[in-house]
Amino acid sequence: MKIAITGHAGYLGPALINELGTAGHELTGFDSGLYADCILGDEQPPAIDEVTIDIRDLTPAHLAGFDAVIHYAGLSNDPLGDLRPGVTEQINGDGTLIVARAAREAGVHRFIQSSSCSLYGAHGDAPIDESAEWLPVTPYGKSKVEAEIGLREMADDSFTPVYLRNATAYGWSPRLRGDLVVNNLTGYAMTTGEVFMKSDGTPWRPLVHTEDIAQAMRLAVEAPQELVHNEAFNVGASSENYQIREVAKIIEEVVEGSVIALSESAGPDLRNYRVNCDKLAERLGFEARWTVRAGAEQLAAKFREIGLTKEQLEGSSYQRVARIKELLADGRLDEDLRFGAKAA
Ligand SMILES: NC(=O)c1ccc[n+]([C@@H]2O[C@H](COP(=O)([O-])OP(=O)(O)OC[C@H]3O[C@@H](n4cnc5c(N)ncnc54)[C@H](O)[C@@H]3O)[C@@H](O)[C@H]2O)c1
Repeated sequence: MKIAITGHAGYLGPALINELGTAGHELTGFDSGLYADCILGDEQPPAIDEVTIDIRDLTPAHLAGFDAVIHYAGLSNDPLGDLRPGVTEQINGDGTLIVARAAREAGVHRFIQSSSCSLYGAHGDAPIDESAEWLPVTPYGKSKVEAEIGLREMADDSFTPVYLRNATAYGWSPRLRGDLVVNNLTGYAMTTGEVFMKSDGTPWRPLVHTEDIAQAMRLAVEAPQELVHNEAFNVGASSENYQIREVAKIIEEVVEGSVIALSESAGPDLRNYRVNCDKLAERLGFEARWTVRAGAEQLAAKFREIGLTKEQLEGSSYQRVARIKELLADGRLDEDLRFGAKAA
């Protein structure tokens, strides 16, 4: 298939490109390049044809001839959404619908929305499936709700949106993010000897490896229409829901000599949910290849090989909020998080 990937130059992009490329698909990326040169170590992300563009400017002409769009581009995570709530809505909500309309007008039949379990918000300790109510507690979660509502209205015989509600990602990527819980705790354990928890560790969170997300995307793009048309899938494994303190314990065990430490300001986190991911396995044949323990081992080995430092872990190349603040401060991004004349 000929597949357009928006936001291919982010954290999850490399695993997706590898997964789809291995399956023989022809790929083109569309990305504004917020993290273009943020690459950790010597491994270069896999190269594909790419167009540097803000998704808010995408037109049907850009997407003509593609069989499917996998939509990754956006402001990806809660703290970044909190930094600019209005722009988060603009890019993740309205921007998603701009891409979808362009795709539909161009005759693209399938649209895979990279959504998030953040749209479930505050649900408590009982595992929830795709029918659960949306109770988002952050601008990021709300933007994913808005996108899904808009996309659902666009579904018809010739346009099949599919909503993949990813668990929180972890795992190695040459475009690493140090702001995701497993990556962050493993990074601190390796660079300081402390598994440094910023919340009290009680909230539940489903976790999924970048490669398992990529597998789910491939299955959704390749599946017969009747299995996925206008359907939502939680992405992960039902067995991979953890309380953050359990994650910290695993990392303490994986990184020899490290000990768990609690930030003085550590308090509860409103985002608390466990998800059931059986639909993805039963309907599309998804099989998780990773667990948090295996992912922490992978990260620890990579960090050791690269010689990761605490400065790198906390720096703007691998922390989304710090990166965007830096681009704003030096005038490369304007208030709408668009690259301006200075960037060019
Ligand atoms: N990483 C996770 O834990 C996770 C979990 C659930 C869902 N998701 C979703 O998956 C997608 C990809 O996540 P990621 O972790 O790779 O994010 P990321 O922040 O690492 O990368 C996002 C990419 O989108 C691009 N982008 C942002 N705004 C853009 C715009 N206006 N126009 C064009 N490009 C733009 C950025 O340049 C970047 O390359 C996102 O939609 C995210 O919400 C991620």
